[in-house]
Amino acid sequence: MSRAALGDTVVLGIETSCDETGVGIVRRRQDGTVELLADEIASSVDEHARFGGVVPEVASRAHLEAMVPTVRRALDIAGVKPSDVDAVAVTAGPGLAGALLVGLAAAKAYAVAWDVPLYGVNHLGAHVAVDTVEHGPLDRPTLALLVSGGHSSLLEVTSLAAPIRTLGATIDDAAGEAFDKVARLLGLPFPGGPHIDRVARDGDPAAIAFPRGLTGPRDAIYDFSFSGLKTAVARWVEARQRDGVDVPVADVAASFQEAVVDVLTAKAIRAATDSGIDQLLIGGGVAANSRLRALAQTRCDNAGITLRVPRPKLCTDNGAMVAALGSHLVAAGVAPSRLDLPTDSAMPLTRVTA
Ligand SMILES: Nc1ncnc2c1ncn2[C@@H]1O[C@H](COP(=O)(O)OP(=O)(O)OP(=O)(O)O)[C@@H](O)[C@H]1O
Ligand SMILES: [Mg+2]
Repeated sequence: MSRAALGDTVVLGIETSCDETGVGIVRRRQDGTVELLADEIASSVDEHARFGGVVPEVASRAHLEAMVPTVRRALDIAGVKPSDVDAVAVTAGPGLAGALLVGLAAAKAYAVAWDVPLYGVNHLGAHVAVDTVEHGPLDRPTLALLVSGGHSSLLEVTSLAAPIRTLGATIDDAAGEAFDKVARLLGLPFPGGPHIDRVARDGDPAAIAFPRGLTGPRDAIYDFSFSGLKTAVARWVEARQRDGVDVPVADVAASFQEAVVDVLTAKAIRAATDSGIDQLLIGGGVAANSRLRALAQTRCDNAGITLRVPRPKLCTDNGAMVAALGSHLVAAGVAPSRLDLPTDSAMPLTRVTA
């Protein structure tokens, strides 16, 4: 008898939307709790570092090479046999088309070979769903702040298996993109977010008053803009260099980071309060940022809002998030995807599943 018939569902999730080949395995119990059994990642980030950004063809090739070994490793670590797996979930989009294709082709092959349903899922919905692995089921409507390499959005989530409503989003750069670009101009390695986070610990966040984008009285209250901030940092650094003065890297990093997390947290709290929602969930790679986590906690405490943020390793791309969302779709009785499912590099959040 399968685990699904006994009430537990084992889902294997595959993530290949960017440069991480992620394979996660979760067990979802009937009471809605999701246990993480394996979360294996093979990253090609070092191969992209010298280009200062992800090279799509290099990422696709790396996914091809890493896929089968990573799936095997995840099954071994979870102590799960292929016959124990009840469903395969995979990121169908958004992401790099060629990279997505490798994961989707692999997921289809495993689903056919193991004779289980396939769930093509939305990568952004998965960044939100992964928190249930750590903090339990989403018990009530939740405001999600999704901050990653490609997105910065405020989302209203009523159920993980239902379409997600976007309240606001960045009108130019994503928060992670701003971290990466500013890190580059400060001479820090790619991807820059973790390096800015580290260097900023020795800096003064109030040293330089960088602009807070889209916070004027006539600006869209739930949208973000980070491109002006990035330019302001570049101009400030260039002026110093022109004058032959040393750039205080730690102060610039701390002041830039403060400008980003100040706006992110202020708008997230505002959106939650306006919508009558008392729970904030932060997801995506930038949610790993230590200052964002600390400021969000302080501001949520002051506003009487419960804060949920997954541990840093679950914030950046991984397979566990895909498995987690897949397990909620199975439990909600959502129909599986067709085996001729295409990738959708611009998949909108109105579709959590493909
Ligand atoms: N500690 C940190 N502080 C700030 N930014 C961070 C930190 N850790 C990672 N990041 C940033 O997170 C981003 C990567 O996040 P993620 O893997 O979720 O993005 P992505 O998958 O490329 O984009 P998307 O999910 O929008 O498709 C990078 O821009 C990276 O610099
Ligand atoms: Mg991501």
